[in-house]
Amino acid sequence: MAAKEPEIIRDKDQMRKWSRAMRSQGKTIGLVPTMGYLHAGHVSLIREAHNHSDVIVVSIYVNPGQFSPSEDLFTYPSDFHGDIQKLRAVPGGVDIVFNPHNLYDYGINPNYTNTSTSSSNGEGVKLESCVEEKGLGHGTWVRVERLEKGMCGKSRPVFFKGVATVVTKLFNIVEPDVALFGKKDYQQLRIIQRMVRDLDFSIRVIGYEVVRESDGLAMSSRNVRLSPEEREKALSINKSLSRARFFAEKGQISCKELTDLVIQAINEAGGRVDYAEIVDQDSLETVEDIRSPVVFCVAAWFGKVRLIDNMEIRV
Ligand code: PAF
Repeated sequence: MAAKEPEIIRDKDQMRKWSRAMRSQGKTIGLVPTMGYLHAGHVSLIREAHNHSDVIVVSIYVNPGQFSPSEDLFTYPSDFHGDIQKLRAVPGGVDIVFNPHNLYDYGINPNYTNTSTSSSNGEGVKLESCVEEKGLGHGTWVRVERLEKGMCGKSRPVFFKGVATVVTKLFNIVEPDVALFGKKDYQQLRIIQRMVRDLDFSIRVIGYEVVRESDGLAMSSRNVRLSPEEREKALSINKSLSRARFFAEKGQISCKELTDLVIQAINEAGGRVDYAEIVDQDSLETVEDIRSPVVFCVAAWFGKVRLIDNMEIRV
């Protein structure tokens, strides 16, 4: 079967028009939001989207709003042409790549004046092209207050308000019936599900399993920035989480012992743990005993790269 060529839409009005035309033909729309530099995890989300909708939109947009000035916005990997090639090869294809150049007005925000184009793959993030109308700035943010407080929210205080806001914008522009997010970003998934419920979006949010490399490393666009040594050390996350799950499912050791086990394994491998927490799958509150379905979430640094991973545990 010939590869399907995705149509690229950059303008938000045009995007909305396309979606409305699809809906008027009775078609359901699936959205897979991404920041590009696509990998097999994204491809799994797109394949899953085909099970839930007639047409597929993949958005590629590195959202400045979810990076603080000290974070890796300007080194976030980017390869738009490579992404399009990958999307051509996805079974069933992709109908639209929404690559907005006019999503935000950061015109007067001093935090976002850098227009550097450096990236691991040469294309980089060009903020000029994200600016719609310079001058007024962006003044409205969506916050999912309780769920954004813990875990990644502690060390990345602007992250989830940026995510919730950009996902709201994407939902309002693309108007999908379903949207798919990876469970690797577990806190993000739960925040978006809560936002959709609390704000009455008529969108079904589907979480898809963590996709791993053959050696167990959770797939992430950031993996490309690990040196071979750091990548080897980073395997300690998946290995220690798997051991912890094994012990938890046998009911052998306490949550404190389980978290100690993971922290020690990552430290010994040469990583630096940001957090390691066993939390309730819905409330994301830390638990002391495993009585309901929980998820063991970890964030750790290897060199300059911060990785996250998690494992769901049912006892
Ligand atoms: O998970 C991501 O890639 C991003 O946080 C998202 C959901 C595309 C919002 O920018």
